Amino acid sequence: MHILVIDDEKSQRDILEDILTDAGYSVVIAENGDEGLEYATSGNFDLVLSDLKMPGKDGLDVLKGVRDFNPEIQVIIMTAFGTIPGAVNAIKGGAFDYLTKPFKKEELLHVVRRAGERHALISENRKLKDEISKQYHYQNIIGKSAAMREIYKLIDRIKDVDTTVLISGESGTGKELVARAIHFSGKRSNGPFVAINCGAIPESLIESELFGHEKGSFTGADKSHIGKFEQAQSGTIFLDEIGTMRADLQIKLLRVLQERKVERVGSQTSTELDVRVLAATNDDLELKVREGSFRTDLYHRLNVFHIKLPKLSERKDDILLLSNHFINKYTERYNKNQIALTQAAFKALDNYAFPGNVRELENIIEKAIILSDGPQIDAADLMIPDAVHSIHYSDKDASKSLPELEEKLIYDALKENFGSLKRTAKKLGITYKTLQYRIKKYAIDKNQFKQN
Ligand SMILES: Nc1ncnc2c1ncn2[C@@H]1O[C@H](COP(=O)(O)OP(=O)(O)OP(=O)(O)O)[C@@H](O)[C@H]1O
Ligand SMILES: [Mg+2]
Repeated sequence: MHILVIDDEKSQRDILEDILTDAGYSVVIAENGDEGLEYATSGNFDLVLSDLKMPGKDGLDVLKGVRDFNPEIQVIIMTAFGTIPGAVNAIKGGAFDYLTKPFKKEELLHVVRRAGERHALISENRKLKDEISKQYHYQNIIGKSAAMREIYKLIDRIKDVDTTVLISGESGTGKELVARAIHFSGKRSNGPFVAINCGAIPESLIESELFGHEKGSFTGADKSHIGKFEQAQSGTIFLDEIGTMRADLQIKLLRVLQERKVERVGSQTSTELDVRVLAATNDDLELKVREGSFRTDLYHRLNVFHIKLPKLSERKDDILLLSNHFINKYTERYNKNQIALTQAAFKALDNYAFPGNVRELENIIEKAIILSDGPQIDAADLMIPDAVHSIHYSDKDASKSLPELEEKLIYDALKENFGSLKRTAKKLGITYKTLQYRIKKYAIDKNQFKQN
């Protein structure tokens, strides 16, 4: 344990130093309150032992300064006989205990030991809390599921190195959020974070947007323009929707990534780049590579490190946590009183497939908060999109014909409702009669779903 002793009386300082050092503590000595406070707020002390009456800053000033700096540091105040009111004030001000001079060696060591135990307990608790909060979020990313905790670990591992990272995942899974977390928790956080959506910029402008151009380099270029790469100097560039990039730009981008230099359109000279590159895609880039619409070499350049974000439906553990997070966010934004989800509302969320992932959950909650006027949000208030759309629709289904899809939807809905025609019809938003007709048409045996 690391102890700071503050006393203006030399004999007292010497005794304390001897006793505490003999007992195995590491001790630093200060001769007055000012010096003591300076040490206390720049060192790494667990315990401060300070005299009460001193010229300049007294023991109460030291106590306050130490508590403000770090409330985990325990303070013991030493008072001369007869200054009990001062000691009482010290306790009120958050001192751990006080010692009345002259005190016995055992008395001193006993109090110091107890203070040490208290310090250990408090810092242990704090560490535990830090641990827990670390697991529940990473910067603004919320989630405690195993899948998200893996992602936090990955981010932690790569935030301070300059590797290029490819972030993939369906729309609304948090790709941009992850890119920002990498930048803002890493060593480039003081530099700019420049995002560019490669899919949203007209094709004719994207080259100049990325790399910049010189005045007169093409019709309409009446001023020179700094591209996003140069804007991101000493920071991070985030190339969003990279899968949409045109073939001729893919090769230019590859060259920039390889050479770490950028040449403005119409310029003969190049600029050295100190930029970290993060890219995101909700396309299956590997498939695009196989199909030949995305360059293999660029793919490998970007995919030095890969973070794949799970769908929300694959991490249902997080739905409640995220819902509460968004409820807090939007009750605050719209000045509403505390609102909670009913059990039924939570169940409805839990059953929903969220094709739009976290963004969709956020939108659902925001709408419900805006429209809510009570302390509760019920299932119906969530206005979860039509049942038909909530039945899981996978990529594989995209190639199915309409009758095939219809058959699958009816099959899935029947299964979900254990063969009850009434509930299935309701869920699909069609009449009982229509459902009967379709079941016959597709020759589905509804009895197979009945529970015994
Ligand atoms: N884990 C999460 N915790 C909190 N908010 C999240 C999380 N994931 C996504 N969001 C929120 O959902 C919205 C969409 O996230 P983001 O823009 O990062 O998704 P995306 O994967 O980039 O989507 P797209 O492919 O459509 O661009 C944002 O408002 C974001 O704050
Ligand atoms: Mg995005």
